[in-house]
Amino acid sequence: MITVKDNVFRLDTENTTYIFRITKFGHLEHVYYGSLLDQDDSADVMAQKSSVSIGSSICYDGSDKLYSLDNMCLEWSDNGRGDYRQSPAELKMPDDTFISDFAYLSHRIIDGSVPMKTLPSSYGGDQTLEITLKDTTSDVFLDLYYTVFEKADCITRRAVLKNESDDPLIIRRIMSMMVDLPDECFHMYTLDGGWIKEAHLHKIPVGYGMTINSSTTGSSSNRHNPAFMLASDIATEDHGNVYGFNLIYSGNHFGSAEKSGRDIVRVSAGINPHLFEWILNKNEDFETPEAVLTFSDKGFNGMSHNMHDFVNRHIVRGQWKEKERPVLFNNWEATFFDFNESKLLQLAKTAKSLGAELFVLDDGWFGERNSDEAGLGDYNVNKKKFPRGLKSFADKIREMGMDFGLWFEPEMVNPDSSLYRAHPEYAVKSPDKKPVLGRNQMVLDICNKEVRDYIVENVGRILDETGASYVKWDMNRHIAEAFSPAISNQGEFYHRYIMGLYDILSRIFDKRPHILLESCSSGGNRFDLGMLCYSPQVWTSDDTDPIERLKIQGGLSYFYPPSTMGAHVSQSPHQQTLRDTPLSTRFNVACFGCLGYELDLKYLSHEEIKEIKEQIAFYKKYRRVFQYGRFTRIRESRGKENKVIWQSTSNDGALALTGFFQTQAAAAESDDKLIVTGLRPGRYDVRKR
Ligand code: GLA
Repeated sequence: MITVKDNVFRLDTENTTYIFRITKFGHLEHVYYGSLLDQDDSADVMAQKSSVSIGSSICYDGSDKLYSLDNMCLEWSDNGRGDYRQSPAELKMPDDTFISDFAYLSHRIIDGSVPMKTLPSSYGGDQTLEITLKDTTSDVFLDLYYTVFEKADCITRRAVLKNESDDPLIIRRIMSMMVDLPDECFHMYTLDGGWIKEAHLHKIPVGYGMTINSSTTGSSSNRHNPAFMLASDIATEDHGNVYGFNLIYSGNHFGSAEKSGRDIVRVSAGINPHLFEWILNKNEDFETPEAVLTFSDKGFNGMSHNMHDFVNRHIVRGQWKEKERPVLFNNWEATFFDFNESKLLQLAKTAKSLGAELFVLDDGWFGERNSDEAGLGDYNVNKKKFPRGLKSFADKIREMGMDFGLWFEPEMVNPDSSLYRAHPEYAVKSPDKKPVLGRNQMVLDICNKEVRDYIVENVGRILDETGASYVKWDMNRHIAEAFSPAISNQGEFYHRYIMGLYDILSRIFDKRPHILLESCSSGGNRFDLGMLCYSPQVWTSDDTDPIERLKIQGGLSYFYPPSTMGAHVSQSPHQQTLRDTPLSTRFNVACFGCLGYELDLKYLSHEEIKEIKEQIAFYKKYRRVFQYGRFTRIRESRGKENKVIWQSTSNDGALALTGFFQTQAAAAESDDKLIVTGLRPGRYDVRKR
């Protein structure tokens, strides 16, 4: 609920309160963000008191010798008015200075969420507060949006900058949100890694100065996921104060915590200012992505539960929202590029007999794509592999009783492709330097509408021809040499690329809502809320070693529910780690996500076939709980580092599925103790599988 009284704005969710107020000079002063307060708790009592002389700091106005923006907790802050912490915006104003001063002009409360014009956003919010600020000396306006999601205990924030002056304004940096919080000996927790080691959880103390979580690769990246937490140093999985932040965006992101000398921590999140510059002409506006904020005093699990509810109810949309996801078989790790129709049909027949519901044809079905050196950008079906075409193959899969799914990598082109030979100008490259390649491929210039049309037409045509009901949308290299002849200001490249991507995804999938989209970027290189607005699930990692997956899925579980994570059983010893693991362990980790199998089935023994059939039957019986139950990380009772315990609990609290994993053997281990949490009181049977 949003209430406004005496210049104080109060945003309540079921368990949290967020308060800020307008100061006598029109600035927005942050007052409180934390556990739910009583209605009669007053902002005056909660607010920071200023009685200390400002010393060498700048006094904003001579009428109040203690009013220094540098010392205050704020909701938005400018450059050039005495606040030396990092401003959420760096604007070259129409008067050619870097000085801005946004002060309160008006506000309104709107029912529900307010959709955005240029970017995907959350939906189903309860109420939105729109606050308009105006620069004190120009016709530049800033709208701040706060949307409240009461049940999920989340608040989203974003900003829209409008230039109504005659001269252009240059945006060098604009965050989606900033907030100043009193320090609680915070640590920043981030999800970092790289290809095949995505989203490992790391903890950094928030010291004086800046602590940063950002990406520069053109995507949200496998290096640093946009989500991060600030937790008090005494927080544990189940106790203590934890703030969570995420961004609904798939491009370069920037999140920071800056601790000032007065122990105020400024948190901001938004588009990465790296290589960013946007020109805002008269009557134009710029929308930042939407940032998501949550707080829990119930530790990391409490924070995660809020974020999981937010993703399942307010990000994932369409026909697949909260719908059970199919058990799939994917041919990639079984065949790589070396397949033909009969080999695939044999795999499909076995997959069906095991219980798979969806057959996914991965890379290599088009053009001269017999290795990763050629073919990307082309859409003609490879006739050597599919002499009767792809529709005939898809029909055969459906006749077997499975759905048919298909892999695409639409944002890319190999120099060795018909598309590149016909349209070298479609590829992103420097105007005068030799192109740099990644996985032998170049990025297509989707800032250019003609290129977007090419992708929309071709992907759409293949989907309609084959009747595919699932798409794996891949993107296998980082962007470099960001340059597009289609735009006049290259500082806009990265953001226009992402807007181009969202345009393509909407144009293809809005009119084909039955298709289940799984996004992928060499695994989890684009595991973010922006992609989840289109694809209900994401291929979590190319690393399917279950022991590695405990870190990867475990890390992502802080922000993303199991329903978003593609998780497959693959062969052992594992192709990347050479680790040998039992089939049961591989399943026991993969079942805490959207289950699939990705291995050469012809090498399975009779015992393994029997075991997989049992695994799939078990998963189908409990899949709603695995995918949509309450996922909780449980601390091993003695804090042993070689144990990982996960639990998914049914939403009625009557059933719990626990994964108890030991990652390494230790000599003379003590007995294990099974801890079960979050169930309704009662008597329970404990069954082991
Ligand atoms: C990426 C994906 C894999 C597979 C290959 C195909 O690496 O992450 O799952 O689709 O591309 O080339």
